[in-house]
Amino acid sequence: MEIDVKEIIKKGPIYSGKAKSIYEIDEDRVLIEFRDDITAGDGKKRDVKRGKGHLNALISSRLFEVLEENGIPTHYLGYIEPVYMVAKRVDIIPIEVIVRNIAAGSLCKRYPFKEGEILKRPIVQFDYKSDEYGDPMLNEDIAIALGLATEEELKKMRELALRVNDVLRRFFDERGIVLVDFKIEIGRTKDGELVVADEISPDTMRLWDKETMDILDKDVFRKDLGDVVSKYEIVARRIGCL
Ligand code: TMP
Ligand code: ASP
Repeated sequence: MEIDVKEIIKKGPIYSGKAKSIYEIDEDRVLIEFRDDITAGDGKKRDVKRGKGHLNALISSRLFEVLEENGIPTHYLGYIEPVYMVAKRVDIIPIEVIVRNIAAGSLCKRYPFKEGEILKRPIVQFDYKSDEYGDPMLNEDIAIALGLATEEELKKMRELALRVNDVLRRFFDERGIVLVDFKIEIGRTKDGELVVADEISPDTMRLWDKETMDILDKDVFRKDLGDVVSKYEIVARRIGCL
């Protein structure tokens, strides 16, 4: 790929979030930098974990490739060593699309599900991506009233999320990992196509070892369970990135 990373970064990011920075390549493409920053609880807990950005860039890139290989449209264009991903420029819809196969996290805090309980069918949940409002859960009417997406788009987003779940659940299962739940973001391309965007990494998924039920994702950091980077390394190795 004919991309001069140094030159692009010199201009500074067009957007910088809690763990990623976005740089403009040209009208159609962006460069996403995965940083070593790690946060939880809307940024209340934060740290820097050396090597995390590299692992998340590798894992995200591989998973976007897997989705593309399975016919799911994404923003992904390529990976650049060590911490960069090239992506189509999209308008991110400010909805966190969460899919759950097993009850964990906020689902067990808010409702009478038992942690680890296998759900009869996957749950798709839409949260409003807004730090100011604390990412409240949406329903379709609220999302439409807020002008976040149309009814047709919401339907497509749900279908897309369930297809991503089917592909990734099987992919991880074959590699000894249980996909408990995950969050994706969806963007609109210039032509109005909906594509899976942002990142898909252990920062945005819950992954458990199939044999030991060991936690291999950001919950290790959220719950102070030890060295988070070594867990991400296990994931990267299992899916063939290392
Ligand atoms: P939750 O159980 O805390 O609602 O999280 C569900 C999934 O979404 C889990 O895999 C972690 C991911 N997630 C994010 O990627 N970003 C967030 O801000 C939150 C709250 C969850
Ligand atoms: N993404 C949020 C944060 O970084 C919450 C989380 O993932 O726990 O603060």
